[in-house]
Amino acid sequence: MTDALSPLRALQFFDSLPQELSAAWLDWLLLEDSMTKRFEQYCTHVTVRIVQEGFISQDDSLPEATLLPPAMRYWLREIVLCGDGEPWLLARTVVPESTLVGPELALQQLGSTPLGRYLFSSSSLTRDYIQVGRSEALWGRRSRLRLSGKPLLLTELFLPNSPLYKEER
Ligand code: PHB
Repeated sequence: MTDALSPLRALQFFDSLPQELSAAWLDWLLLEDSMTKRFEQYCTHVTVRIVQEGFISQDDSLPEATLLPPAMRYWLREIVLCGDGEPWLLARTVVPESTLVGPELALQQLGSTPLGRYLFSSSSLTRDYIQVGRSEALWGRRSRLRLSGKPLLLTELFLPNSPLYKEER
């Protein structure tokens, strides 16, 4: 059931930016603004397909745990972002339960609204880092973000039909 996200789970992250990446690819991989908005420049409709959403407890299947404060439970959201119905991006968001207070409770109620619509409309959004990663021919990134100082981890993988790969390498 969660197999759809396997290329994302296989991402290996770089400690520093790989030299081989062109400016055009870096522009996608290091985008600080909403990826949904960027995709909207390349298609008519961006849609979210939810793969899974719900609380999970801390265990070995949570690689993000070392990058987040310890919590009894984490909110997990896994989606496929599509451009005009074509899968363009896999995304996995892990949110410690301690982040889900006040306005951040909205993270639990996104449904088919893209995460970015919430994140980038928030004046309290900051980013600790973006790390570029690779899974064979596919590229991705992971970002630790904060809302009012409270962390969440977002991992994204660009699927083969994503406009990123149409840019000069
Ligand atoms: C999401 O809705 O979970 C989502 C949307 C776009 C992204 C990442 C995550 O780039």
